[in-house]
Amino acid sequence: MIYLDNHATTRVDPRVVQAMTPTFDLNYGNAGSVTHTHGMDAWELVESAAENISDFINASPDEIVFTSGATESNNLAIRGVCERRKTPGHIVTSQVEHKAVLDPVARFEKLGFSVTRLPVGRFDSGAPGRVCPEQLADALTDQTALVSVMLGNNEIGTLQDIAAIGEICAQRSILLHTDATQAMGKIPIDVEALKIDLMSFSAHKFYGPKGVGGLYVRQRGKRVRLNSQIDGGGQQAGIRSGTLNVPGIVGMSRAIDLCSVELCGDDPDRLRGLRDLLYERLCEGLGELPVNGLALSSADRLGCNLNCRFPGLNASSLMTIADTIAVSSGSACTSAEPEPSHVLRALGLDEDAVHCSLRFGIGRFNTPTEIIEAADCLVSAGKELRGLGD
Ligand SMILES: Cc1ncc(COP(=O)(O)O)c(C=O)c1O
Repeated sequence: MIYLDNHATTRVDPRVVQAMTPTFDLNYGNAGSVTHTHGMDAWELVESAAENISDFINASPDEIVFTSGATESNNLAIRGVCERRKTPGHIVTSQVEHKAVLDPVARFEKLGFSVTRLPVGRFDSGAPGRVCPEQLADALTDQTALVSVMLGNNEIGTLQDIAAIGEICAQRSILLHTDATQAMGKIPIDVEALKIDLMSFSAHKFYGPKGVGGLYVRQRGKRVRLNSQIDGGGQQAGIRSGTLNVPGIVGMSRAIDLCSVELCGDDPDRLRGLRDLLYERLCEGLGELPVNGLALSSADRLGCNLNCRFPGLNASSLMTIADTIAVSSGSACTSAEPEPSHVLRALGLDEDAVHCSLRFGIGRFNTPTEIIEAADCLVSAGKELRGLGD
């Protein structure tokens, strides 16, 4: 099996596993136990992870809330802000957000909030998949409680202009949340420079374990207050109660260390090179394949992402024949649903175009040999489907 579905999740880096191991059999204390060294050692590990993760995004340790992943972080950010209001307000988001943003937003719409879901550039425009910051500025009202626009898209890899959006929100004193699940660890992120107030991330997208993530919550300058969503022991200043997942937190911190080293090296270029190799080889075998989203050469597209159409071929049939290649036709969380991808639909693609699209996520452990093998396998599957045979 060749794994090219790194937007859905990543393999845990062996160095992360190694860092986590002692937290199962040596440092297994409850980080909330203050009466013995087992607990205090565990707390130190959590503190050092918070320092490490906050350094990576130019935040401070007290601005990191550990969660079970980005779904929880997005819910905490959106519900946490909106529930503090005495009367319903206005939320601005985009049409290409993950369901973990769209669904909590829809919940508040049912409760009387008004919602603007900004469109993105169409597939045939100069900026497919991108939110226009000027359009966002025009959508803001005196009632806008929150803007939630993702940093990197999980299907088409588009990076949004969060710097411009952050500036607009800051000028209007409106809170900005960004879902950075797909961007964290893959591009440098500076929450101060980007003027982000709340930012979600999840370890399993950057070679860490599943079931752990975080929410950056601004405390410097304009302090963000959230209603807690999980009440109990009062951990994490009461914002998110529950015994801290020390193994997961240690793993996430180690994973961030590794990303920070890789980002300074040639890893981003290597992944981009593998992605380009995959695309070129697919096109050589099957003819021109239209790319969904920004051009592959664009700096505003995640270098590890490819999403393209295989005209005349059904993506599900392709995946069935090329069953040694792990790819997907959309986000993992929604791929069980029969509905076509809302992200591709937001680009203005018709149903046929959506159904012939595949998403590839290249990762740290992929090799050129694997990429060539995967491309050849898909080309032969495509030819078989076209009835040409090899
Ligand atoms: C952009 C984005 N947001 C949120 C999530 C949900 O993350 P988690 O699996 O950590 O709940 C995902 C996962 O696919 C994602 O890609």
